[in-house]
Amino acid sequence: MLQVDQLNQYYGAAHTLRGVSLTLEKGRCLALLGRNGVGKTTLLKCLMGVLPVARGNVTLEGRDITKLKPHQRAALGIAYVPQGREIFARLTVEENLLMGMATKSGRKASAIRGEVYELFPVLKEMLHRRGGDLSGGQQQQLAIARALLADPKLIILDEPTEGIQPSIIKDIGRVIRLLRERGDIGILLCEQYFDFAHELADDFVVLSRGEVVTSGTHAQMDGEDVKRHLAV
Ligand SMILES: Nc1ncnc2c1ncn2[C@@H]1O[C@H](COP(=O)(O)OP(=O)(O)OP(=O)(O)O)[C@@H](O)[C@H]1O
Ligand SMILES: [Mg+2]
Repeated sequence: MLQVDQLNQYYGAAHTLRGVSLTLEKGRCLALLGRNGVGKTTLLKCLMGVLPVARGNVTLEGRDITKLKPHQRAALGIAYVPQGREIFARLTVEENLLMGMATKSGRKASAIRGEVYELFPVLKEMLHRRGGDLSGGQQQQLAIARALLADPKLIILDEPTEGIQPSIIKDIGRVIRLLRERGDIGILLCEQYFDFAHELADDFVVLSRGEVVTSGTHAQMDGEDVKRHLAV
């Protein structure tokens, strides 16, 4: 459903993405792995259209979306949960969630909302609390819930476990597994926490200095080749 072909991106003179290619199939979870600063977030921003690309193509369900604006990509079904969550701290949980639903209305919207509350019961209990007063883990759950309310075909998660306590990491893992089992959504999971990614991913790619250095299926993920590029 998502195809990235020979993507190149620069910050000024720095060549940050160097011919990155990857494929993500519907119903699967693709882990994007790599150390700090290798270009993971940059790649995700290029997929969302937040950053322009110099060369290369991004295709969603056969359609070239390389030149589309972020809101156009969102309308086509891409949802993005940024690194560091970026929820609205001064808005309530409910208001934050409504932002995610801005493009949906009617019966479908309330069905989706019900599903999302089922996935994240803690949010339902905290609807009137300000986003900024939630714990980091709860804010991460809120950011994921907000993305899901747009009923995406593709969800992009940038390091959802970063700085989060183990019990909430488990909850987030459970939600990603349920989404994957639904089979109708593609999940691009950027992670540095190898065990978490290993539990959830069907396929993986490893970035190093802006290049894909190795990739494969779940069965190949445990190899030395991968660990070598992740170990600090
Ligand atoms: N706005 C920017 N302007 C210039 N350089 C940038 C900018 N954003 C990121 N970089 C640089 O580009 C490189 C890739 O950064 P990026 O944020 O994509 O890495 P990352 O793999 O997501 O790292 P992390 O795991 O720490 O989140 C880094 O060297 C970073 O310093
Ligand atoms: Mg990053």
